[in-house]
Amino acid sequence: MKKKILVTGGAGYIGSHTVIALCEAGFEPIIADNYSNSEPWILDQLTKITKKKIKNYTVDCTDKDGLKKVFKEEQIYGVIHFAAYKAVGESVENPLKYYQNNIGSLNCVIELMNEYGVENLVFSSSCTVYGEADYLPVDEKHPIKKAESPYGYSKQVCETLISDCLNSNQLTRAITLRYFNPVGAHTSGLIGELPIGTPNNLVPFITQTAAGIRKYLTVFGNDYKTDDGTCIRDYIHVMDLANAHVKALNTMSETGKSITLNVGTGKGSSVLEAVQSFEKVNQLKLNYRIGPKRSGDIEQIYAATELAEKTLKWRTEYSIDDAMKDAWRWEKNLANK
Ligand SMILES: NC(=O)c1ccc[n+]([C@@H]2O[C@H](COP(=O)([O-])OP(=O)(O)OC[C@H]3O[C@@H](n4cnc5c(N)ncnc54)[C@H](O)[C@@H]3O)[C@@H](O)[C@H]2O)c1
Repeated sequence: MKKKILVTGGAGYIGSHTVIALCEAGFEPIIADNYSNSEPWILDQLTKITKKKIKNYTVDCTDKDGLKKVFKEEQIYGVIHFAAYKAVGESVENPLKYYQNNIGSLNCVIELMNEYGVENLVFSSSCTVYGEADYLPVDEKHPIKKAESPYGYSKQVCETLISDCLNSNQLTRAITLRYFNPVGAHTSGLIGELPIGTPNNLVPFITQTAAGIRKYLTVFGNDYKTDDGTCIRDYIHVMDLANAHVKALNTMSETGKSITLNVGTGKGSSVLEAVQSFEKVNQLKLNYRIGPKRSGDIEQIYAATELAEKTLKWRTEYSIDDAMKDAWRWEKNLANK
């Protein structure tokens, strides 16, 4: 029998790509989502790609009684907990919303795992926990810095919550993945990042500008101490990231251990390099302007990836060029939706 994996936030950007990776690896994903930042039609796209109907529950993960039904009905082997809000700016304006959802949902998930004897958790954390790193590439031993935003702090609290629950045996095991910057889309062009309202991330902004939805892209600052003056990030293809979750489940069942890992490529690219990659692979010119620096943006960050590669027996397979090609294919398909 296939192992059932509860994927909270499975209709979202990273969750939907992970659902595909889980199906390919022989797991049975079960989605729990309230569509607060996604669309139910993503489920049809997943069926087109996987040729399977993915079991799904419309439920808010902060509603313990609602989520309990899923644990009651399904024999769950592990949970991948994606469900959270992720807009840094919004979290500054409305911190309560972020603490309530991001911490509250994890709290419910762990309570129910404990109640129903579900032993394996994979959790979505973020490189934001490092703040402005003291050294690069940043490794997992780097100290956690004071969070720049309520969003960042919610991830720090979630990491502590997990480690406290592991110490007290309220949770059996967990792999926490600190994502760097997920980009790109599934190569089918049927799913990808679906920003509701103004995008917060660079790549949807690029693709929406190329599609004419936005007049121009603003590059926030070009006087950072980097080669071309723009910020540096570690852009990881979302399918590489999705595969890391599958490897994390396999690793937990093989070793029985808990660990926190960086998931990035190990390579930093500047904002302008990302723009140039998009222009090159898609043979397009992008209208962009340099604007003022954005408060809270760190200058540069990229991951030390050795620990993740060794622990998960995983490597990235896609380049930033692949991601830019896939993201554009997705944006063009989205125009016909
Ligand atoms: N995308 C990034 O740049 C990035 C970087 C680092 C970490 N992360 C983390 O990865 C996870 C997934 O991010 P994403 O980019 O796929 O975001 P997303 O917004 O596309 O997906 C999140 C999904 O969770 C759902 N959701 C939110 N709150 C819920 C709740 N209470 N109950 C049920 N469903 C709920 C949303 O409807 C959405 O489908 C999040 O925890 C995010 O903080 C994302």
